[in-house]
Amino acid sequence: MTGGPLLSVRDARVAFATARGALRAVDGVTFELHEGRTLGIVGESGSGKSVLVRSLIGLVGADSGAAVGGQVLLEGQDLRTLPAARLRALLGREIGIVFQDPMTSLNPVMKIGRQIGEGLQLNRGLDRAAADRRAVELLAEVGIPEPERRARQYPHELSGGMRQRVAIAIAIACEPKLLIADEPTTALDVTVQRQILDLLQREQRQRAMAMILITHDLGVAAGRADDIMVMYAGRAVEMAATRELFRAPRMPYTEALLRSLPRLSDVAHARLAAIPGRPPDLARRSGGCAFAPRCRYRSVRCDAEQPLLTRDGLHGFACFNPIAAGA
Ligand SMILES: Nc1ncnc2c1ncn2[C@@H]1O[C@H](COP(=O)(O)OP(=O)(O)O)[C@@H](O)[C@H]1O
Ligand code: SF4
Ligand SMILES: [Mg+2]
Repeated sequence: MTGGPLLSVRDARVAFATARGALRAVDGVTFELHEGRTLGIVGESGSGKSVLVRSLIGLVGADSGAAVGGQVLLEGQDLRTLPAARLRALLGREIGIVFQDPMTSLNPVMKIGRQIGEGLQLNRGLDRAAADRRAVELLAEVGIPEPERRARQYPHELSGGMRQRVAIAIAIACEPKLLIADEPTTALDVTVQRQILDLLQREQRQRAMAMILITHDLGVAAGRADDIMVMYAGRAVEMAATRELFRAPRMPYTEALLRSLPRLSDVAHARLAAIPGRPPDLARRSGGCAFAPRCRYRSVRCDAEQPLLTRDGLHGFACFNPIAAGA
C-alpha cells in the first residue's frame, strides 16, 4: 500500500452494559495514523483512551459485555471483520503493545529471554536457538546490561524500569508497523520515565514504526508526538499537529490542560492550576457538551446540543465557542 494511512479508525464506539445502564466509554472517535508517525492520545483518567485502543485490537469485545461499533482498517484490512485466528496472527506480526504495568503483560513464571523468543518463533518462524539469540540482542538494544544473564532471569528479579524495557523488547521483537504504548511510564519514577520515553522514541524512529502514545499528561506527549488527539468523556474533542495544538488550542478543555502544565519559568514547587470540577458520569450523559459544567466559555447552546468535531484546515475541534485562532 502506498499513500494511504497505516491505520484508519472510523466512528469507533464502545458501550458497556452496567447496572446503571449503557456506559458509553468511547463515543464516535475517528482518526488516521500514517506510517512512521506518532499520535499522542491525551486526556484525564477515565476519558476512554485505553478502552479505545484496546477495542481497536479486539481486546474489548462482546466477551467483556461491551457493544463495539465502527470500522478499523489496518493497511486497508478491516480488523473488525477478520476471523479471530487471523486477527491474532496479524496482531502478533504488525502491532506491538506496551502497557502501563509490565507485570500485566509479562509471564511471571517464564524466563524473560524465552518470553521474547516465543513470539519470534510463533510470528516470525525462527527456530528456537535463533529466537533465543535474537532475544539477547533485543535485550541489549533496549538498554539492559548483561543481557545474556538477564535473559535467564524471571520478571520479579528486575526493577520496574527494567521490566518495562523487557516489555518494549517483546513489543518490537517482531518488527511491528504500529507500536501502541498505553501510559508506559505512569508507574515509574521521573528519571526512569524519561529514559523509557527516550527509548520508545528512538526505537520508533529507527524502525520507522507508527506509534500511538497514550498519556494523561500533555507534557509527556509534547516533545514526543507529531500529532495529538485530546479526548474528553469518550470523544475526540481536539486534534492537531502538536506544535499547532500548543500554539493555538481552540477547544476550552485543551486550553485548560495547557494551563495546568508547569512552565520552565515556574519555580519548581509552584502550584499548578488544576481544572476545577470533575469529568461527567459516562452512564448519565447530558444532551449538551460534556465539558459544559467546567467550561468558562459555556453558552446556552452548549447545554442543548452536542458539538461535533469540525475542522479548520488540519485542525479539528468540537466546540460552539472555540477560542480564536490567533488569541
Ligand atoms: N470493563 C468495563 N466495564 C465497565 N466500564 C468500563 C470497563 N472498562 C472501562 N470502563 C469505563 O470506561 C471509561 C473509560 O475507561 P478507560 O478507557 O480505561 O479510561 P482512560 O484510559 O482514559 O483512563 C471509564 O469510565 C471506565 O470506568
Ligand atoms: S461547546 Fe460550549 S461548553 Fe463545550 S467546550 Fe465549547 S464553549 Fe465550552
Ligand atoms: Mg488508561
